[in-house]
Amino acid sequence: MLLVTGGAGYIGTHVVRALISGGRDVVVVDDLSAGHPELLPAGVPVEVGSVLDTDFLMDVIDMYDIDGVVHLAGRKAVDESITRPSYYYRQNVHGMQSVLAAMVRLQVRRIVFSSSAAVYGAVSAGTVTEDAPTLPQSPYGRSKLMCEWLLRDIAAAEGLSWSALRYFNVAGAGDKELADRGVHNLVPRVFQAIDRGEPPSVFGDTYDTPDGTCIRDYIHVTDLADAHATVVDTMDTAPMAAVFNVGCGSGASVLDVMRAARRASGVPFDWRIEDPRPGDPASVVADADRIRTELGWHARHDLDDIVGSAWEAWSVSRATMKTASGQDAALAVGA
Ligand SMILES: NC(=O)c1ccc[n+]([C@@H]2O[C@H](COP(=O)([O-])OP(=O)(O)OC[C@H]3O[C@@H](n4cnc5c(N)ncnc54)[C@H](O)[C@@H]3O)[C@@H](O)[C@H]2O)c1
Repeated sequence: MLLVTGGAGYIGTHVVRALISGGRDVVVVDDLSAGHPELLPAGVPVEVGSVLDTDFLMDVIDMYDIDGVVHLAGRKAVDESITRPSYYYRQNVHGMQSVLAAMVRLQVRRIVFSSSAAVYGAVSAGTVTEDAPTLPQSPYGRSKLMCEWLLRDIAAAEGLSWSALRYFNVAGAGDKELADRGVHNLVPRVFQAIDRGEPPSVFGDTYDTPDGTCIRDYIHVTDLADAHATVVDTMDTAPMAAVFNVGCGSGASVLDVMRAARRASGVPFDWRIEDPRPGDPASVVADADRIRTELGWHARHDLDDIVGSAWEAWSVSRATMKTASGQDAALAVGA
């Protein structure tokens, strides 16, 4: 059985579905600080607790006879990591150390870890390979890189099979119920502005890119979830010790996303150009060759699929929250 930490979160609920579709049995550990266990498929056990609690993790591993871990639990907001660095290092780095300690003590030998393209930091033009220098620009990015170091060193010493998946810009929804309820990323931020009748912000339009706005590699969350299932399947057949970029391998600009959001929502909104944010690189696009050639995985969804599915799920989550609370969902989402 597999243990999915953070399995009640936005990406976790998609990963759990992909693993179950692939015939896996799964148990979720989540402290519900940002999770929605009601969105998990019926019958998936959820053990509520923190990954920082190694004894709790060992109890879960023992109780469910766990033979592999997908470790997604963590904090993900770059801005918040700048104002609360010790919280981020504790949750992400100590969390990783605790997961590995529980695994080693109970001889669980396989782990897939949620890393991030934030480990690359200042990227020069072109696509970024897994061998590019890692110069993260935020405590969040540094915490993910530290997790990778821990993983690599402890796995080497203890003989674990491991993979760190460096996600690029995750968006979209695999089901109308499974919206990204946070408002840290561009797509939900645009939707929140549309709901409020305000122009979404575009930070900088003088970058050295074709339309002057930043370019990122957007990956549909269901493609990302499938990548986890593929990695887990591959680990069945051979030990692994690998970092993979998980992106489309092509970029979209902020204005491309704005236009896709207009098409998806049917709202002819305008955007507002603001000053560039410090530390935002002009372009961050994955070189996704390694995962394609070594594991046969590639992204299947394009930007319209991503933004269209995200809008549909956003509309459902807005309606649900209105019904539940009677207040303006746009203010409540991501609070
Ligand atoms: N969403 C993205 O764009 C993105 C990009 C790169 C990497 N990631 C990483 O992917 C992972 C999942 O991200 P997400 O978007 O699903 O975030 P999310 O906040 O929706 O999900 C994280 C889940 O982990 C749980 N959690 C947090 N701290 C915990 C702890 N100490 N113990 C147990 N559970 C805990 C939360 O309750 C939540 O259910 C994170 O590690 C994040 O850093 C996300």
